[in-house]
Amino acid sequence: MANTNSYLIVEPAAFIKGEVTVPGDKSISHRAVMLASLARGRSSIRNFLPSEDCLCTLRAFEAMGVSVEKQGKTHLIIEGKSGVLFPPFEAIDCGNSGTMMRLLAGILTAQPFYSKLIGDYSLSKRPMSRIIEPLRMMGAKIRADGPKDTPPLIIEPSTLKGIEYRLPIPSAQVKSCILLAGLFASGVTRIIEPVASRDHTERLLEQFGVRTIREKGEIILHGGMKLEATDIEVPGDFSSAAFWIGAAAAIPHSELRVRSIGLNPTRTGLLNILLRMGAQIEESIESYSKGEPIGSLWVRGNKLRATVIQGEEIVGVIDEIPILAVVGALADGVTEIRNAQELRVKESDRIKAIVTNLRAFGVEVEELVDGMRIKGKNTVQAARVESFGDHRIAMAFSILALRANKASRIDDVDCIATSYPGFQEDLRALTQSSTEGWAEETKKIKNFIMGSQKFAKATELEKKELPYPVITIDGTTASGKSTVAKEIAKVLGFTYFNTGALYRAVTWKILALGYDVHDEEKAVEACRKLNLRCVIRKEDSFSQASILVDDQQPLEKELRSPEVNEAVSIVASYRKIREWLLPFQRELAYKEPLVVEGRDIGTVVFPESPYKFFLDANLEEREKRREEQGERDNVAQRDRLDILRSSAPLLCPVDAVKLDTTKPSAQKVVEKILDILWKKGLTISRGKMD
Ligand code: DC
Repeated sequence: MANTNSYLIVEPAAFIKGEVTVPGDKSISHRAVMLASLARGRSSIRNFLPSEDCLCTLRAFEAMGVSVEKQGKTHLIIEGKSGVLFPPFEAIDCGNSGTMMRLLAGILTAQPFYSKLIGDYSLSKRPMSRIIEPLRMMGAKIRADGPKDTPPLIIEPSTLKGIEYRLPIPSAQVKSCILLAGLFASGVTRIIEPVASRDHTERLLEQFGVRTIREKGEIILHGGMKLEATDIEVPGDFSSAAFWIGAAAAIPHSELRVRSIGLNPTRTGLLNILLRMGAQIEESIESYSKGEPIGSLWVRGNKLRATVIQGEEIVGVIDEIPILAVVGALADGVTEIRNAQELRVKESDRIKAIVTNLRAFGVEVEELVDGMRIKGKNTVQAARVESFGDHRIAMAFSILALRANKASRIDDVDCIATSYPGFQEDLRALTQSSTEGWAEETKKIKNFIMGSQKFAKATELEKKELPYPVITIDGTTASGKSTVAKEIAKVLGFTYFNTGALYRAVTWKILALGYDVHDEEKAVEACRKLNLRCVIRKEDSFSQASILVDDQQPLEKELRSPEVNEAVSIVASYRKIREWLLPFQRELAYKEPLVVEGRDIGTVVFPESPYKFFLDANLEEREKRREEQGERDNVAQRDRLDILRSSAPLLCPVDAVKLDTTKPSAQKVVEKILDILWKKGLTISRGKMD
């Protein structure tokens, strides 16, 4: 049952931005505590992950006589027991951790006492036959007391001998369990691994002075070798960073740096897949801490392409499938995940959990026995989903929620603490610039965006110099753009061009023709058939551009109907439609001096204009204005669609003057703009300023 007492509300965000250092690696933290406890002497473990899972391991060894000195939460000094532990007084609770139960079983089979390993509801359903079988071959007396070889595990003292064992499924936990038992066994233990799984145990054993021979898919360990204490620095957990890496790679305009992260190649399969999908990622290994490569990653957001993830690749990304599914849901095309049946026996049935939650977010997905097929889309609908008690499901869907049209809710998120305490704080910090002061912050990444947009434009349009001045007024919905732009046009004698009306006219026609605006292909096709014309109407002292669609001029009330209000931001998010309208908008500037209002006028349509303004007001005020105008319009939703779309999103141009119109009257804003234009030296040949 979902625990709805612990939940996370995730607000949409335009992008991920910033630097993050994730907590220590879970796999390495478990193993470091185990090996330090068995070693001779004092070991120091820095950057230990103080998550529920790893603290369970620590408590278990303390219960078996190991003395642990904690210097803060993440630095441990462990006094090892030279291979001989004390019998615990009660059953050892492994909580949610499959790693702990399976690795500890390997160690305990060789101890001279009886022990019992128990776990929480989810761990109690996970299969243990995969370790029981090889341990019994080694002579261990171990059994599972739950149905179908599930926990609790009961272990009795025994004498172990080395074995040769071919892993039937690639599993680092099974491999590590056998290696740890092999330490106490007589003779040689040889493990044949058809597909390489993560090798932290082998690397750490070496740091504790125990050599394994690793060659051609085989690992050989001589029994009876002693572990010597050492100092370990645990790298940042790649699987925790994976959520940010996936998010930053798949959300356009994101910029992320991950520091001090473990880059062991048996863990970084995610990067290869993301690169294949078109991601921009740079990797730099900065040190080797006790055998583990540590470094930094830089990730930039892009629209990604779908891919197929299957076969041998699966084992290296098994923990990353939840975030990969989310990335697939945001990519172009159908992403397919196969040969991942192992996911059915993870902390939850992850295939079922992912499929259920993707559907709740409105993503089309087909469930397969061993994976799924996901049809990607740009943004998703907000949802309330549960974690199924699985930390990685909770975190992956927090990322998808960033792309929703409004806030989503993830229930039962206490489980996140099993691997990533601090996840919510990092989520807040990395999305802060986009959800709060987004207009300010986006200025900083503008250069990057401007660069690519300029390039696109130069290839599509003749880059002719503008013969007349163009004043650009961009801003959020109902921020006062029209009132201000019209007035400026009147004062200066320029022609007023409302590009919102252009998008509205096109949307009106598509709706009138009976198309579903959500069907991108059909909407684009319908647009291509339209005949658009721009007429300049001059009345009294006011000149404005009007749009005719198939020689018809839609009425103002048709352009501002609730249906058009709802559909226009969707139509405006289609890249092909924007590209089609771009030359149409530019053309007018060769005929008239203009005041142009819209969302991308200063960034994309007239990036060369020296007269750029950006208006914004707080949401409450803007909603009030729409209401006063008697219009049914969801301002917040339209903002989000305009900000989140990947093609020419609403951004404050770097070189724009930003004006907050919450308090000042429209007249004051007009005066301010005229004043700035005057100081910029705009000389007017017509109107009152000459
Ligand atoms: O300004 P307006 O509210 O009438 O604009 C209607 C929609 O059109 C707006 O939500 C986003 C879209 N639009 C756009 O994408 N680019 C523009 N230059 C102007 C409007």
